Amino acid sequence: MSRILITSALPYINGIKHLGNLAGSMLPSDVFARFQRAQGHETLFICATDEHGTPAELAAAAAGQDVATYCTEQHQIQADIAKRFDLSFDWFGRSSSPQNRALTQHFAEMLEKNELIEERVDQMIYSITDKRFLPDRYVEGTCPKCAFEKARGDQCDNCGALLDPTDLINPYSTISGSREIEVRDTRHLYLLQTKMADKLRVWIEQRQGWPQLARSIALKHLDEGLIDRGITRDLAWGVPVARDGVARPGFEDKVFYVWFDAPIEYIAATQEWADATGGDWRRWWLPAKPEDVKYVQIMGKDNVAFHTVSFPATLLGSSEPWKQVDTLKAFNWLNWYGGKFSTSGRRGVFMDAALELLPSDLWRWYLIANAPEGSDTAFTWEQFQSAVNRDLADVLGNFVNRILKFNEAKFGGVVPEGGELGELEFELARNLSAQIDDIATNLDQLEFRKAAQGLRALWVLGNEYLQVAAPWTVIKTDPDKAAMIVRTAINLVGLYAKVSSPFIPATATLMAKAVGLEDEKTWPSSGQNWMSLLLDALPRGQAVTVPDVLFKKIEDEQVAEWTARFGGSDAA
Ligand code: 2FM
Ligand code: ZN
Repeated sequence: MSRILITSALPYINGIKHLGNLAGSMLPSDVFARFQRAQGHETLFICATDEHGTPAELAAAAAGQDVATYCTEQHQIQADIAKRFDLSFDWFGRSSSPQNRALTQHFAEMLEKNELIEERVDQMIYSITDKRFLPDRYVEGTCPKCAFEKARGDQCDNCGALLDPTDLINPYSTISGSREIEVRDTRHLYLLQTKMADKLRVWIEQRQGWPQLARSIALKHLDEGLIDRGITRDLAWGVPVARDGVARPGFEDKVFYVWFDAPIEYIAATQEWADATGGDWRRWWLPAKPEDVKYVQIMGKDNVAFHTVSFPATLLGSSEPWKQVDTLKAFNWLNWYGGKFSTSGRRGVFMDAALELLPSDLWRWYLIANAPEGSDTAFTWEQFQSAVNRDLADVLGNFVNRILKFNEAKFGGVVPEGGELGELEFELARNLSAQIDDIATNLDQLEFRKAAQGLRALWVLGNEYLQVAAPWTVIKTDPDKAAMIVRTAINLVGLYAKVSSPFIPATATLMAKAVGLEDEKTWPSSGQNWMSLLLDALPRGQAVTVPDVLFKKIEDEQVAEWTARFGGSDAA
């Protein structure tokens, strides 16, 4: 059985992330990691803050802090919020770590040895007003491909094109707003991706079973033709262009481009984890056989080009046997009403604000059940309210509360004895079993929306069962049968805890505790006695408690208040 390595795209360090960032990488990665662990697979789930480049420098300047202090503080803040969202990273690293510095420099050395790096004199945008070069996000202008007027020097947010600052039409400095700009010569290192185009195409075509979105973006970039990429920048903050602590001559004031070192941090963060825990990072990244590890990457669609072209080029070009991604899952955008969430514009709900309003499971459920998989989707308060009220409160919460209260009133708050499973229960078990298999298949295939729909359908089965079995009526004439029905339903609570755990882990723990289930983090087994495993696993006589209401409904007044407070409307 292969081990599962999962990496979530690394959130930029420039401030607390919004729900769109959470929905497009960290949350689905977490659900997937939890599911894989529940299935008994050895799993390593890695994330980190992406701390270099212009986003970090600009945000630190805006906060009036030096960039190193800013990054240390923000990393801690993001780590705390991730924990409060129950994101179960095995390691949450930092791309500014010494491990990443050494590894990035190592890759550059190997690529150069393999004649895949070249020094070139480049023409870069220089701001006369700011007296400095303006790489990447320090310059904005009109996109040459789609005419979007606020395209950044590294990428157009509108059409996704990867850009160089000199591609922009009418460029201006984002530091001063000045258009007093000229093009000056500066030396940079280039990664010769053109030399690797054939190898990359073969590599991408060999990737079987990639979800459609990732595959089509990767092939589009190859078809458009690869270009050699500048992998250094005129910046002070980043991985120095040096070897053994000595700067490359002429590169004393330059660092590697953030998109060169960021994906390398997937490996370096695993080294950070190994250094901190005594783990073995080589087992994951340099396995004896590539098939010993199944490597899954999860990210927003704007990250795909970097992960299907530049990063594989780095790994392949090193001629070392690095583990390459097996499955790449990309997400579309979760929008905020008609427009985009925006970190710089503080548009939308951010992870910290979300947790001030409501517990993490409510957000987790909504964001996974409405994952932007097939197309972009838009967050609306009304949809959120409906997901919480209808799915969580009416279907799951109501089932749990109703049966556990009834059990307390009629069977003294223990798993009741008596009665035998009958035809109705047999049919229930068959339906449950099929439904659980369906959820597992969808999770394995990284189809999160479908998996969430399946989970909801699993909860509905419990409500339908109670409706038909009606223990509150049966108890009047056949107490033994009523005991069996209640016992079956209590077992369902335990079963729901297990299957819901990857999605809503905090609630799953509450449900498990209520019915005295010790381990809700194991996927229900479908062994030989599957019917009794599903419906009769809890020891009779075991104490059962009634938890507080699992999900409070969201009232219309709250929706109105939050809409006003967060500007939730198309006009915002
Ligand atoms: O787009 C982003 O948010 C980047 N910080 C993702 C980096 S993913 C990886 F390559 F590090
Ligand atoms: Zn564009």
